[in-house]
Parts: sequence; C-alpha cells; structure tokens
Amino acid sequence: MRDLPWPARVYLVAVIVAAAALLVRSTITSGAPVAPEDLDVLLVLALLFLVCESMPTLLNVEQFAVSVSFSASLAAVVLLGPDGAALVGLTAVVSVRPGLPLVKRLFNGAQFAVCGYVAGWVYQALEGRVGVPQVNAFDDLIGPYAAATAVFVPLNIALTLTMIGLATNVRATEVPMRAMAQFLLSYLGYGTFGLLVAGLWATVQSISAVLVLLPLFVARWAFGQYHAQQRSYDATIAALCQAVETKDYYTRGHCTRVSLASSMIAQEIGMGTERVRAIRYAGMLHDVGKLGVPTKVLQKDGPLTEEEFAAIQLHPMRGLEIVRGIGFLDEAYAGIMHHHERHDGTGYPMGLAGDEIPEFAKVIAVADAFDSMTSDRSYRGARPVGVAVEELRKSAGTHFDPVMVAAFIRALDRDPWQPPRRVDSPPPDETPIKDHDDPTMPIEVVTGQ
Ligand SMILES: [Fe+2]
Repeated sequence: MRDLPWPARVYLVAVIVAAAALLVRSTITSGAPVAPEDLDVLLVLALLFLVCESMPTLLNVEQFAVSVSFSASLAAVVLLGPDGAALVGLTAVVSVRPGLPLVKRLFNGAQFAVCGYVAGWVYQALEGRVGVPQVNAFDDLIGPYAAATAVFVPLNIALTLTMIGLATNVRATEVPMRAMAQFLLSYLGYGTFGLLVAGLWATVQSISAVLVLLPLFVARWAFGQYHAQQRSYDATIAALCQAVETKDYYTRGHCTRVSLASSMIAQEIGMGTERVRAIRYAGMLHDVGKLGVPTKVLQKDGPLTEEEFAAIQLHPMRGLEIVRGIGFLDEAYAGIMHHHERHDGTGYPMGLAGDEIPEFAKVIAVADAFDSMTSDRSYRGARPVGVAVEELRKSAGTHFDPVMVAAFIRALDRDPWQPPRRVDSPPPDETPIKDHDDPTMPIEVVTGQ
C-alpha cells in the first residue's frame, strides 16, 4: 500500500468503502445479503468464481491477467440478485494466487463486488426475475441479463484500468483501440456463459456450473499456454538479438527497431497477423549471422580486404545456419538469408533481383537501411528522418523495392518514427566500426591485399 501513489490509495479506499457500504446496506435492509435457502447456490458460485479467479490467463502484455470468473458473478445476478452477486465477487480477496499482494486482493474483491451489485441492480430494474429461471419464462430473462452484462463488463474494465493508470505509468489511452474493442467484445461474449449456468440450474443444479464453465476454463487455459509459448519465443529471439548486439556498440537496439519498422511495412502492405509476427522475428534476427563473423572484422575501422568483405557477405548464410533449427521462424528464414539482396541484382549473397527476392527480405532491407541511417554511428551522427526517407526514395528501384519504400513512407506519415537516443561515446574497449547496413556510407574494399 505504501508503494502506491496517493491518488491510487485514495481510489483503492473509495472502491473498498463503496463495496462495504453496498453489503452493509443490503444486510440492514434485508437482514442478510442472501436467504438461508440460497446458501448452497452462493457456495457453488463462490467456489466456481474462486477456481476461475485463482487461475487467470496471463496476457501478452506484461503484468496483465484475465479470468473468466465474472461468468460466475453474472450467473449469481440471475440466481441470487445484486447482493449475492456482490458476495460472489468479494471472494476474489481469497483467491489462490501465491504472491498476489493483499492490496490487489482487496481491490479485486471490492471492484468485483461493486460490478456484481450494479449489474444485479440493472437486472432487477429491467424486471429480470431473481431465482432459478423457469423454462417458460427464460425468454424474459434475456433482455435484462444482456443489459446486466453490458454494464458489468465495461464497469469492471474501467475500474481496473483506472487503478492501473493511477498505480503505474500505463494509461488506458495507451492501449490500442482495436485491442480494447476485441477484449471488450470477447468478454461480452463470455458473459453469456453466466446465463447458461443460470438456465441449466433448474435441471442439473450445481452441476450446471461445471458443465458450462469447465470447457470454457480449459479453453482459456489453453489460450494462456499459447501466450506463454509466444513469450518464450520472444525471449529466445531477444537473447539471440542481444548476443549479436554485444559485438557492436553502435548498433544496440538496431534489431528491435528493424523489427518494428519491418512490421510497419508488413501491416501497410496487408500481411496477415501470422506473417507480421514472422517478419517481426525476422527483423530481430536479420543480422544474427554476425555471430559467425570475426569481431575484429566487424569492428575494423577503415577499408576491408577482399577476404574480410567476403566474411561479412557470409553473415546472411551464417544467420540461416544458426536459426535453421528454430521451427517457429517459418518465412523469417528467407528474410534473414536475403536481406542484403538489392532490387537491381547487385546485392548479396545470391545476387537476386526484383521479384526473385523474397518479400520478407525486401521489407527488411528497407527497414534495416532506414534504422541504420537514423541512428548514430561512430563515423557520423544520426541522420534526420526526412533525410533518410529521401535517401530511400532515391534508391527505390535500384537498391530497394519501390513498393516497400512507398509503403514505409505511408506508414511513417501515419505513425511518426521515434529515432533512438543519441549514443554516448563507447567504452574504451569497444572499437568504433563501419556499418555494413548504411547505404550512404558503403564499405570500402581494397583489392590485392
Ligand atoms: Fe546484415
């Protein structure tokens, strides 16, 4: 609690006080939030809520997790009413999540209680009948239930995002609108499971909760496994990337930025989600073959001998050899292998031209050259974005594919590029180098040595 900024503390206390006030009020007005004959329903739904809440699915976004527990809260809206739904939500305080701080538990319990109560109130206000639904009256529940769900889900997200915004530097407005819309829609969809639990209660009682939510729970768990796998892929790629960048002081962060620029071009030319992910990996790993080039050649300041230049030209092939065993890279191999081919056929390693060059390689070539030009190098400062774009334009049709250059310029117009921070002088043991990716400063090769 002491680690929280004061606005977050005030907000936390306000949400807890609101939840407590709602429960005290219902106890005063009705004697108890739930009638004794409904205690078994409360117990089953609270247990279900706890199981789901204890095993949330981690999202790709750091520190964010979701659970399907709210389906149990919404079932409680129908079976028990607002007070019961609030009590079910309150059990989030005792969820089995080792290491979850008490502050987060209290906030989760309180906000779920508030959401459950408000959703239950809306349900009743729209004349939704509280209790086990009768088969012939089920249709009458659908409207009020939909309204309760439409209130519960956005309220839950708004309360949580406000807390995240006050407690961290992440702002709700920083979450992409498309991702937020998908998140909201999928949650509204999951909300229907609460209605199924309530509807089946008349025939199979407590088993209905297991019948409906268990498959859903398994699906969410599988989804979580998929994300965990994606994160381990990302960590593997980042480790390889870091290994390359330790050889080269001035190109730190280059892989990540090439990856970002490549995905901007890929999205602009309409690549699907899976291909964009693959090109992101290809951008990260495009220079991994540098690991197979002697550091003294990479760091040589001045003209290279033919042998040394040949060693540099081998890095795309070396890169392919290094990552060949990584199954999930798919099309990224072609990007790594051919990112130094040129549109006019004068590149390396194969001298491919025009449409012979794989699409991934055409994209990475543009992204690679752009980041190289807009970053500091030992022999020159970073060029402004406008100058780099002009350079790309001049070389479109010779060095670069004009379609990719045009797509990148369109993407940059929409999402302005954030050039990297200026690079301080390197530590004394790290020698300045020439950059083989910089199209404005070609490597000099001296023959006959
Ligand atoms: Fe390269």
